[in-house]
Amino acid sequence: MTFANITGWGKCLPPAVLSNDHLSTIMDTSDEWIHSRTGIKARRVSHVSCSALATLAARRALACAGLEASQLDGIILATATPGTLVPNGASAVQQALGAHKAAVFDLNAACTGFVYGLSVGTALVQTGMMKRVLIIGAERLTKLLDWAKRDTAVLFGDGAGAVIIEASEQESGLIANRLGCDGEAREILHIPDFGTDRERFAEIDGLFTFNFEGQEIFKRAVRGMGEATGAVLAQAGITPEQIDLIVPHQANLRIIETLAKRMDAPMEKVMVNIAQYGNTSAATVPIALCEALEQGRVKPNSYLLSAAFGAGLTWGAALIKWGDRVTPLALCDDELPPCQQTGLELIASAVAGCQQADRPR
Ligand code: UT7
Repeated sequence: MTFANITGWGKCLPPAVLSNDHLSTIMDTSDEWIHSRTGIKARRVSHVSCSALATLAARRALACAGLEASQLDGIILATATPGTLVPNGASAVQQALGAHKAAVFDLNAACTGFVYGLSVGTALVQTGMMKRVLIIGAERLTKLLDWAKRDTAVLFGDGAGAVIIEASEQESGLIANRLGCDGEAREILHIPDFGTDRERFAEIDGLFTFNFEGQEIFKRAVRGMGEATGAVLAQAGITPEQIDLIVPHQANLRIIETLAKRMDAPMEKVMVNIAQYGNTSAATVPIALCEALEQGRVKPNSYLLSAAFGAGLTWGAALIKWGDRVTPLALCDDELPPCQQTGLELIASAVAGCQQADRPR
């Protein structure tokens, strides 16, 4: 049987930090509220495009795997915030990397995008259609936020993470998965105007409506991730105690703690970095995975369990058996172009626009 071993990993976090205290200067919120309700202390704001974040994470993953971009057969960019819809964001990554042999596509499953992407990429490798696939989760959500709405503006941030999977005879990579979607609840996390549903010649004020029912999403997240993790463990014949590290989607620390409790897992077995980056949607899992490796928390042959949920409401879980190598073959020295602005400066014009549009007219 062919497996799809993870041989490279990389991340890219834009440098500009937007802390809870920064946010409390532009809206009625506080570090105390945000941190106690979500676990978030800060998030990053990108000064470059979504595909630029994705490309740097990909370059770092390629160096880690000791591969050239020309050796890639496929690129899957999991994102809900591509710079352009036509052409897809993955083609910008292909162009920047010079991955001329790779078939490329975007995959939109919102925050579950990376778990979906890893599943699709693994299937492509296991069927023999491809040998080496780059899977990226990248988002620039700060571009869509309504900075006049404190219920959503404080939750999200920008970033990217990437992995490379390669065909292997050794049992490794994604070994069990469960994906799904509660389509009947698609309205509870919904940006109705971001797409061709938007009235083409209507007056455009730059605002996207952000329908968001936090508590309902919370409940469904716990249920969806809980059921999906139970299903993958049963599928693989693995007990929760055998899991070495849980690498969950980072949307809310309380959701992560509930998932861990459901699995009877101590929090020491859970990778959590939500405090620094907030919810970067499809990028949370690959960024957390990358940091777990950097911190030496992944050992050869470890069992890793990932679970995520997002708009759709999509949900999913992935059981990964790590291979033999937990250190990069090489490092990539590339950096993003320098950013001359602070996080608050980067969002200033959007904040003014949102406050203006929010006024009763
Ligand atoms: O990855 C997919 C997207 N992620 C999610 O959807 C996350 C799922 N949901 C959640 O994480 C939580 O529901 C939230 C963090 C979004 C909200 O936490 P909550 O404990 O469910 O709070 P709530 O919505 O019930 O609001 C409680 C209070 C309200 O005030 P009143 O009505 O009790 O007076 C809100 O107006 O907190 C108020 N509030 C805020 N206060 C200060 C809401 N947002 C804020 C804020 N700062 N940023």
